[in-house]
Amino acid sequence: MKLLTRKIWIVLFFIVLLLGLIGFDIKEKEALPGVVDKPKIFAHRGATDSFNESTITSYKIAAKNGADALELDLRMTEDDVLIIMHDETIDRTTNGKGKVSDLSLKDIKKYETIGNYNGKTTKEAIPTLEELFQTFGDTQRYYIETRLVNGEAMMEKPLVNLLKTYNLLEKEKVAIQSFSEKSLEKMAKLAPDLRLTLLFKKGKFNLKKALSVDYPVIGIESSDVNIKTINALHKQGKEVHVFFYDADTMESEQKKMKALNVDGYFTDNISFTKELLNR
Ligand code: G3P
Ligand code: CA
Repeated sequence: MKLLTRKIWIVLFFIVLLLGLIGFDIKEKEALPGVVDKPKIFAHRGATDSFNESTITSYKIAAKNGADALELDLRMTEDDVLIIMHDETIDRTTNGKGKVSDLSLKDIKKYETIGNYNGKTTKEAIPTLEELFQTFGDTQRYYIETRLVNGEAMMEKPLVNLLKTYNLLEKEKVAIQSFSEKSLEKMAKLAPDLRLTLLFKKGKFNLKKALSVDYPVIGIESSDVNIKTINALHKQGKEVHVFFYDADTMESEQKKMKALNVDGYFTDNISFTKELLNR
C-alpha cells in the first residue's frame, strides 16, 4: 500500500512538472500586448526608398508619407557644427572623402550627397541639423541618434542648445536614441524631459542589461529579437523599437515584429510599414 502511494505521488509529480512545462511554453508562444496603442513608424534616415539618405528632400518625402518621426544620425564637424550623416566619413554617401570630425562645415558644403533612383543620379547638399529644424520647425517629430565624438560626449550640449532655439525641448517632439550610455547620461542631465532610447548593436543584445537600465525604450536589431525578449521588456513597461540591417529581409522581418507587438519600426519603406500595421 505504501509503495502504491509513493508511485502515485511520483506520477503526480511528473504530471505537474509536465503541465508546468507545457504552460510555460504556451505563455512564451503568446506575445504580450505592446506598450503603445499604435506602433510608431520612424523614417530611417528619411525616405531612403525615394531619395538620398539623410537629406532635406528625403525627410520632406517622409513627412508627406506620414511617418510618426524623422529618424536621423548626428555627426559633428571639426568646427563643432552638427550635421546629419550616418557614417563617420562622408565617403559612402557623398562625392567627397574624409572623416566628418576632420572637416569644417565649409569643407562639408563643398560636397553633395549622391544617390541613384530610377536609373538617374540624384544629388543634394549635406544638411546641418539646424537646416532640418529650419525646414520643419515643430511640424514634425524628430528621433535623433547621438554618438560620441572621438570617445567624448561632445555633441549633446550643442544639440540641446539648438533644441532650445527651435522650441523643441519637449518630449512629444523629440526623442533621443544612442548606442552610447555616456551620451544618454549627458542628455538626461541636460534635457531631463526627453525620452531616451538605449540601442543595442546587432549581435550584442543583452536582456539582463536592457531590463536593468532606467531608459523607457530599448532599440534592437531585428535578428536579435525573439518573443521571450519582447515579452520580458513589455512586462517591465519598456517600449521596444526595432531596426533592420538587411534590406532583403526587412519586409518579412517586419511581419514577424508585428506578430510580437513591437512598439516602433525604423523603416526604409514607410508605405510598406504603414500598410502592414493598418492591416
Ligand atoms: O537608430 C536606429 C538605427 O538607425 C540604428 O542603426 O546604424 O541605421 O543608425 P543605424
Ligand atoms: Ca540611426
